[in-house]
Amino acid sequence: MPGDSIALASDHAGFELKASLASWLRDEGYEVLDLGTTGPDSVDYPDYADRMAEAIRTGRARRGVLVCGTGIGISIAANRHRGIRCALCHDTTSARLSRQHNDANVIALGARMIGDAVARDSVAAFLSTAFEGGRHARRIEKLS
Ligand code: RB5
Repeated sequence: MPGDSIALASDHAGFELKASLASWLRDEGYEVLDLGTTGPDSVDYPDYADRMAEAIRTGRARRGVLVCGTGIGISIAANRHRGIRCALCHDTTSARLSRQHNDANVIALGARMIGDAVARDSVAAFLSTAFEGGRHARRIEKLS
């Protein structure tokens, strides 16, 4: 919800989409914590997934958005961290279900896979959907 801090991080392939999402989120009233990268020069996506995990672990942000070319590498890297449930999403349905069923705290997007509008709609669904709990809570427990 607006007022919460949303962390964003990307590699070079996701840099433009991250910048666009950051500006849109600010317009929507969210406080944005931009963890880099800061330009189009080539970087390694695990370093930015690590930054995201640290921001979530220390409570600097409750939710995060990661972007790389496909979303695959950065989501794999993020999910190596305890306490991170990162969902690679390509549409609003997967984004919504990642919250309802998986209590995802980070969404990963592929800048070379989806456009700006789908990315925004997916992030909007991710941020506005609650975890359903119930039988899903038992499964989340088993992840940790
Ligand atoms: C970078 O070229 C690209 O490999 C990276 O952004 C990502 O798609 C990896 O999964």
